[in-house]
Amino acid sequence: MAVGVPGSFHSWLFPKESINFMHSSFALRWLSKLPEEVTREDSPAWNKGRVTCPLSSCQVVKAFASQFLRDMETFFRARSVELAAGGLMVVLIPCRTERTHPSESTSVHVLECLGNILMDMVKERGFVDATKETMSEEIVENLDINQLLLSHPLIPCRVADFGCSSGPNTFAAAQIVLEAVTVKFKSDGLISQLPEFQVFFTDLVSNDFNTLFASLPPERQYYTAGVPGSFHSILFPKHFLHFAYSYAALNWLSEVPKQVLDKKSPAWNKGRIYYKSTQKEVSEAYSAQFAKDLMSFLNARAQELVRGGLMALVIPGVPDITSFEMTAGLKFEVLENCLLDMVKIGLVSEEMVDSFNLPVYFPKPKELEAVIKRNGCFSIERMDTFSNPRKHATISDVKIFTSHLRAVFDGVIEKHFGSKVTNCLFELFSKKLSEAANSSSLDIQTPSALFVFLKRVQLV
Ligand SMILES: C[S@@+](CC[C@H](N)C(=O)[O-])C[C@H]1O[C@@H](n2cnc3c(N)ncnc32)[C@H](O)[C@@H]1O
Repeated sequence: MAVGVPGSFHSWLFPKESINFMHSSFALRWLSKLPEEVTREDSPAWNKGRVTCPLSSCQVVKAFASQFLRDMETFFRARSVELAAGGLMVVLIPCRTERTHPSESTSVHVLECLGNILMDMVKERGFVDATKETMSEEIVENLDINQLLLSHPLIPCRVADFGCSSGPNTFAAAQIVLEAVTVKFKSDGLISQLPEFQVFFTDLVSNDFNTLFASLPPERQYYTAGVPGSFHSILFPKHFLHFAYSYAALNWLSEVPKQVLDKKSPAWNKGRIYYKSTQKEVSEAYSAQFAKDLMSFLNARAQELVRGGLMALVIPGVPDITSFEMTAGLKFEVLENCLLDMVKIGLVSEEMVDSFNLPVYFPKPKELEAVIKRNGCFSIERMDTFSNPRKHATISDVKIFTSHLRAVFDGVIEKHFGSKVTNCLFELFSKKLSEAANSSSLDIQTPSALFVFLKRVQLV
């Protein structure tokens, strides 16, 4: 006879002395609850920023161990009542030997990785959070409700994210826009006329729209649609959008500037994979490509936005007085050095490195302003530079840095070098960063966020 018995094994499940043989396999490591002290900020065992304990402080490990012992006691107390005299019990619990360090265990690695990814997701909201207040202020100040939304009351307020990726930042940004528009309607005494919202998420066709759709916030108060295609071209009908935004996407170039891969050009970037401000021709080629791409972006948005339509752009960049190397450049330098090391030991050919450059550019505010002014379709309502909350790397950040850099550049690197070289490259990258961190010479800074708030001023 087979029966199902619902209930926790930390309590009584069977009548007294009614079972002759018991078996539990790989179940007792699940605790009845999280030790309370690891979640309390004021406790020395607070396990901040981690989802598991083996690599945490000894107070955290102790807290988990005590909970495990308490749970074992309750388990055996309950079983001792249920087991008939002379009954047998087999218990299998995954463990490690006294001599193995937790970091040698695969499952610890998997859990640590999960924790890092979650922390990444928290930290990567950096740009959205850093600019939230300014963005809301600008919407409230610049939104012309009557011209934009009440002149066609049956049309929803149409919002689009350019370069949305697969979430979750895009949802946070959409929410900021919706809330600010709602605040504006309330403060103007027009809340009863608040329109419906429709948010379009756009990205390249290769974007993982399935993940994006699957993670849409269930409580959202807007209609949605995914729009595939490059933001350097037109993606919507003319005068269709009321609000556009783009976070951390416009620094992706449509292509690597041709000159930097051309052996005959003075801008040939031999043995390097990105630009340095000391190499004038190379950095100028990158800057020109960025300006060209931004111009195509602005021309396309100028067609799609209604007159008076608003646009917020947040672009990872570099303050006017700072050089790129002093901010975001170091991690690219480390990556480049790893590739050159791999050339030395024959893992990758020199030609492969010479024919590869990263298609990203970190502009300065004055470059951004010059292109917007030359385009002429938008007025600059506000321009600001925000430092990234994640400014310097610490030793514990090395893994996060590596996984983040890999998540961002895996596609372009793997396409050029293949998966074997890419795996090896990021392993080496992590190792080099850890070495630098251990010798305390690690000072990786992240780019600032250039924030610009624009209003569509003329019709094309
Ligand atoms: C670093 S992610 C930023 C994603 C998201 N906005 C955020 O803040 O988390 C950059 C995104 O820009 C997208 N992207 C790059 N070039 C693009 C282009 N030409 N057209 C549309 N999307 C593009 C990439 O596919 C990627 O999803």
